[in-house]
Amino acid sequence: MAHLGTAAMKTTISVIKADVGSCPGHAVVHPDLIKTAEEALKKCDLLIDFVVTNCGDDLELIMTHTHGVDSEKIHQLAWGIFESAAERAKQLKLYGAGQDLLKDAFSGNIRGMGPGIAEIEFTERKAEPVVVFLMDKTEPGAFNLPIYRIFADPFNTAGLIIDPSFHQGFRFEVWDIKESKKVFMSCPEDMYDLLALIGAKSRYVIKRIYPKEGGKLPADESVAAISTEKLSLIAGEYVGKDDPVAVVRAQSGLPALGEVLEPFAFPHLVSGWMRGSHNGPIMPVGQKDARCTRFDGPPRVVGLGFQCSNGKLIGPVDLFDDPAFNKARKTAQEIADYMRHHGPFEPHRLPQEDMEYTTLPKVLKKFKDKFVSIT
Ligand code: 13P
Ligand code: 13P
Ligand code: MG
Ligand code: MG
Repeated sequence: MAHLGTAAMKTTISVIKADVGSCPGHAVVHPDLIKTAEEALKKCDLLIDFVVTNCGDDLELIMTHTHGVDSEKIHQLAWGIFESAAERAKQLKLYGAGQDLLKDAFSGNIRGMGPGIAEIEFTERKAEPVVVFLMDKTEPGAFNLPIYRIFADPFNTAGLIIDPSFHQGFRFEVWDIKESKKVFMSCPEDMYDLLALIGAKSRYVIKRIYPKEGGKLPADESVAAISTEKLSLIAGEYVGKDDPVAVVRAQSGLPALGEVLEPFAFPHLVSGWMRGSHNGPIMPVGQKDARCTRFDGPPRVVGLGFQCSNGKLIGPVDLFDDPAFNKARKTAQEIADYMRHHGPFEPHRLPQEDMEYTTLPKVLKKFKDKFVSIT
């Protein structure tokens, strides 16, 4: 109650990212762009703390503040930084300078303008472990499998069975990104229905996870959020992949840190990779190895761990920079070889409807008069 002056101030973590140019090709963000962002954030007085980093060619702003999710001020700040970084990228003639900035003028909210956003606002616990996941060369649906495993799969998360503080499970907010609709489903009771949707990962994407009513954590404060922006749906054409980010809280009423990381020991197939038009394995890597080289990939995921302390980000710890994930990286390399051998054939190449660009209409036009009836 505000009049008692005891209401705990909530912390917001906003992870906002954009590809505003890279070097060379779609490989890595240039250090000047990181410097541009850091200098701008240092000067501004809206934030409690921040970390600027990259995953491959995506510039990542990890920011903490007290302005809540969807704050116009914070979104405007991020947009301005991406514009300045894109300006520097243009001077350096970096590849794809300004690639993800799809609109000319900011008008209140950065959603739908190109950058990807994952934000959570929450009451800090006594100790608040948070993981920020950053992916390159893939799409938001790439998070469906690991997030499902973390919050609903007892073969991944032992705590769902043995920890009384979240034995009741979690609530999933799922977005239909083609129809712009959302639905809530609870696990374990709606598990099969949830899987029926999120298995179709190019359309149904997990947006947020909530604790259930009556548990240890407030049921209205999300414990995980994933960016769901699809650039091709915003621009109406291919403009680069929608390399997603996620924020996941851990421990004490939530899956343990190790349960949050465990799904990434399996390098599952995601769509993206070369020209955003191929299936391939996602490789968990340390930040220094988030450099998509082979056939512009294979897709990467970085996990940065923090303890959040009154909004201060204690960390980051580069969680996949660990020999425990060597086997996953090796498996990813083997799958990458196997998939590459298919060349232009599906299922390495995405099915027609999911491809980011295609020559098919032109090929069909060229051979239009040569097609003859089979019957
Ligand atoms: P602690 O007993 O140190 O809290 O660790 C428990 C745990 O979550 C390990 O996964
Ligand atoms: P990004 O989406 O990471 O810019 O990659 C685009 C691409 O076409 C890679 O081949
Ligand atoms: Mg790029
Ligand atoms: Mg990228």
